[in-house]
Amino acid sequence: MARGRRAAPPAPIPPPMHDAPTLDAYQGDLLDFAAAPGTGVDDAAVRFRPDGWLLVRDGRIDAVRDADDPPDASWRRHDWRGHLLLPGFIDCHVHAPQLDVIASYGTELLDWLQRYTFPAEARWADTEHARRSARRFVRQLLAHGTTAAMVFPTVHRAGVDALFDAAAEHGMALVAGRVLMDRNCPDALRDDAAAAERDSVALIERWHGRGRAAYALTPRFAATSSDAQLALCGELLRAYAGAHGGLYLQTHLAESRAEVDWIRALHPQARSYLDVYARAGLLGARSVFAHAIWLGAADRAQLAATGCAVAFSPSSNLFLGSGLFDWATTAAAGVSIAVASDVGGGTSLCQLRSAADAYKVLALQGQRLSAWRALYAVTRGAARALRRDAEIGHFDPGATADFVVWSWAADELQQHRVALARSLHERVFAWLTLADQRNVAAVHVAGRRVALDAPPRDD
Ligand code: GUN
Ligand code: ZN
Repeated sequence: MARGRRAAPPAPIPPPMHDAPTLDAYQGDLLDFAAAPGTGVDDAAVRFRPDGWLLVRDGRIDAVRDADDPPDASWRRHDWRGHLLLPGFIDCHVHAPQLDVIASYGTELLDWLQRYTFPAEARWADTEHARRSARRFVRQLLAHGTTAAMVFPTVHRAGVDALFDAAAEHGMALVAGRVLMDRNCPDALRDDAAAAERDSVALIERWHGRGRAAYALTPRFAATSSDAQLALCGELLRAYAGAHGGLYLQTHLAESRAEVDWIRALHPQARSYLDVYARAGLLGARSVFAHAIWLGAADRAQLAATGCAVAFSPSSNLFLGSGLFDWATTAAAGVSIAVASDVGGGTSLCQLRSAADAYKVLALQGQRLSAWRALYAVTRGAARALRRDAEIGHFDPGATADFVVWSWAADELQQHRVALARSLHERVFAWLTLADQRNVAAVHVAGRRVALDAPPRDD
């Protein structure tokens, strides 16, 4: 094992092509969060500035000002009055190759993997296909208002490069890593131990800390990784602990009951599903576990104590019939929660759809998810889960200017409902429940507007 090696130092945001600073002032209804909101609908953590000014200097937030405090003439003005400006959404759990299987009929998790997902992922062995798919995936994330993500590609090393390349083309923050699987999967996707280690080390060296990329060790889940492969992940986490804050770890945890039963049979020595990962040394402040539905109190306490985050994926949990995530109990245990799409188990890349589905999952359990908590969980809260909240997820001065301009209404119904709202929370809640990709007006990554036009012909 290549211990203690260091990836390349992070590249700064590319400087502008000319010497003078680029000064852009965006005027619109600015909304972000100073901190985690509480459970109520009136919350001091909410920062709403109608017709406010978002000042962006060379790709970073310079300042936020009220409507009556405009910048001087040196700032180029962009008039988005009547629109909502939010930090770009962050999706902490999504699968790049699964745009091919999104909305696949009639099955549950374990059969869905075999029937739809593994065949789609095997097609990434063709590097040209992987490149086209990766570029389409990144384009679609951005087109849905998501400007940063933690992503599963496939087991193919060239596909991981393709994904990081596609994100880098847009200057987008991306956390990803080669998927690791050495059992209970088709031969075409199965690792041999040497290749898994060699590829992971090569990819870490290439990508971790390069520009806005970071590397995540990505054992798919405890059913498809042997103890030896999970142990390799633990060793790599330790070996690179000092490199750019350390590597990430992403995997799935306690998603469906059948899956949990299977893990118990495969790992009889473990106290619980989470314990399989704990024994391999995979729990830490940069570990993100998708789903985390079927857990006990000891597991939640352990997740909190080790600083792990969970990626609640409501659209996927409903679509695959996996179960209802217990937000109140998980939050009360002190676990940090991000809301994620989990496409293609989830049925939309739009994080507003994830947030609206999250509300419904909680409603089924007699819980309430305010618009503030929902939006926090796809912006600053998700950034916190990824330990990147110094950089993204809000409009604090110094943050990278990843932000999205949304229309308040994309159709007559939205217009009608939003106009009737009597409070800010009512308005934003109605908006997030009804809005979708049609509401995206403009997307900015590091201060640069993304062209959301038709895809190139060869894609
Ligand atoms: N568990 C293991 N792999 C997957 C996957 O691709 N999607 C979901 N939703 N769960 C998984
Ligand atoms: Zn997943």
